[in-house]
Amino acid sequence: MNPEELKSSVTAAGKLPEHVAIIMDGNGRWARKRGLLRTAGHRAGVKTVKKIVRIAGDIGLKYLTLFTFSTENWKRPKDEVSAIMRLLEQTTKKELSELLENNVRLIATGNIENLPPKKREVLLDAIERTRNNTGLVLNLALSYSGRAEILQAIKNITTDLSSKKISPDDINDELFSSYLQTNGLPDPDLLIRTSGEMRISNFLLWQTAYTELYVTDVLWPDFSEDDFLKAIADYQRRDRRFGMVSPSKK
Ligand code: IPE
Ligand code: IPE
Ligand code: MG
Repeated sequence: MNPEELKSSVTAAGKLPEHVAIIMDGNGRWARKRGLLRTAGHRAGVKTVKKIVRIAGDIGLKYLTLFTFSTENWKRPKDEVSAIMRLLEQTTKKELSELLENNVRLIATGNIENLPPKKREVLLDAIERTRNNTGLVLNLALSYSGRAEILQAIKNITTDLSSKKISPDDINDELFSSYLQTNGLPDPDLLIRTSGEMRISNFLLWQTAYTELYVTDVLWPDFSEDDFLKAIADYQRRDRRFGMVSPSKK
C-alpha cells in the first residue's frame, strides 16, 4: 500500500485507538551508527516527533503521549541532559505556532518542577497558550517515572484518608486513576516502543494494564509516518479481550 492508501485504510477501518503512547527509543544508537554524537541523535529524534504529531492530528487521534524524558534519564552524562533540555526549550518555542495552527493542546505528565526553571517556563507558557485547543492532546511525559507517580498517588490518598475527604471504601480503580498525574486521560490503547527493546522502562505502569503493545526495531529517528500507520493498522487487527472471551468464540 502506498502512504495515502495506508492512511485512508487506517482511518476507514474504524476502531482508531483513542490514546497512543510511544516510548521514543534509539536516538543514541542511530547516532552511533553514523559516527555522530548522541545529541545528534536527539536532534534527529525531534524531527520524527514533528512528523508523528502531524500525522496523529491528521488521522484524528485524540491523545498522543510521548515518553520524552524519564526520571532515570537525569542520571545520564551532564552534557547529554543539558542538550536534551535545550532541545526541549527550542522545539517548544519554535513549534508553538504550528501547535496553535493545528489546534493541538499541549500538556505534560511528570515531575516538571524538576526541569530547569527557564525550560519549565517555556513549557508552561506553551501549555497555557494551547489550553483551549480542541484537536489532538499532545502529552509529553517529562521527568516521568511510573513508580514515583504511583507512590505520590498513595501519599495523596493517605492524606485525604486522614482528613476524611475520602474513606477506604471509596478506593477503587477509578479513584486511584484520578490521583495519578494522567488524571483525565483515558488509558493508552496502544503502546509503541521503537528500537526493539522489550521493556516498559518505568513508563505508564498503572495505565498500561490492558494496553496493546507494539515493538518495532526501527530506531526513533528513522520512524516514519508509515511506520506509525502500520502500528495502528496492526492494532486494528487485534482482538482485545480484557480477560474475557471474544463474542465470536463464545
Ligand atoms: C531515547 O533514545 C531518548 C531518550 C531516552 C531521551 P536513547 O537516548 O535512549 O537512545 P539509545 O537507547 O541509547 O539508542
Ligand atoms: C525510555 O528509554 C525513556 C524514554 C524514551 C524517554 P530509555 O532508553 O531511557 O530506557 P532503557 O534504559 O532502555 O530501559
Ligand atoms: Mg534508550
